[in-house]
Amino acid sequence: MKATDGNDNGRMVLRAEELWKSYDEGAIGVLKGVSFEAREGQSVALCGPSGCGKSTLLHLFGGLDTPDRGHVWVNGVHVDRQHGLLRLLRHEVGFVFQLHNLIPGLTLAENCLIPTMAAGTDRRVAIERLRALTERTGLSHRMDHPIQKLSGGERQRTALCRALMNKPRVLLADEPTGSLDEKTSAQVFDLLLNLVATEGITLLMATHDLSLAQRCDRLVEMRDGKIIEPSHVR
Ligand SMILES: Nc1ncnc2c1ncn2[C@@H]1O[C@H](COP(=O)(O)OP(=O)(O)O)[C@@H](O)[C@H]1O
Ligand SMILES: [Mg+2]
Repeated sequence: MKATDGNDNGRMVLRAEELWKSYDEGAIGVLKGVSFEAREGQSVALCGPSGCGKSTLLHLFGGLDTPDRGHVWVNGVHVDRQHGLLRLLRHEVGFVFQLHNLIPGLTLAENCLIPTMAAGTDRRVAIERLRALTERTGLSHRMDHPIQKLSGGERQRTALCRALMNKPRVLLADEPTGSLDEKTSAQVFDLLLNLVATEGITLLMATHDLSLAQRCDRLVEMRDGKIIEPSHVR
């Protein structure tokens, strides 16, 4: 457990209030009044069976989709399509998906530098950051490798670097090790936890792997379209 855990004075970095979301014009009700908060620096595992709405919730936090009702805030910024969404996506939120979603044909370095170009970061600063992150993730020797020549674990570590290039305050991770074998999954997850801890990042990670979930500061569960926090786990 980290020092931030249980600290009532910690800043709320993620906040959802009464979120409702359905698909197919209301035929598929997914989120039915989700309220949730996470403090600065906390790592939170979002658990629940496939199809319960974990990805949907992450997409709403990242501004990739809009709720039918309710609100989300990231780092105090109200996530909606009108206000500050680009700034939020460039600087405050990083995403890691189950499949790495890297651009084939480009090198590791090129993939990681794309978000810094979108953010208008000075190239030298961006390359410094890339060096630091690839060193932390054991990828220094792979910088100029095209994505298709990297192993599954290396690709997921690259995706992690890319997500952290702009120094986001929040990392949203959707089954980040779900496509990897058990051993590689454990290694990538160690790195992920280590990086978010040292950078003070708030992590919300969807997973159905209980052994990974239990290593986070908090474990919450999606059930019947709502979030519950099993008290015995904390
Ligand atoms: N774009 C979409 N259109 C229609 N149904 C969707 C869409 N996205 C998700 N769903 C449905 O919403 C439910 C929740 O999906 P999802 O959030 O992906 O769950 P999880 O990530 O927990 O597996 C599922 O029943 C899924 O089929
Ligand atoms: Mg999902």
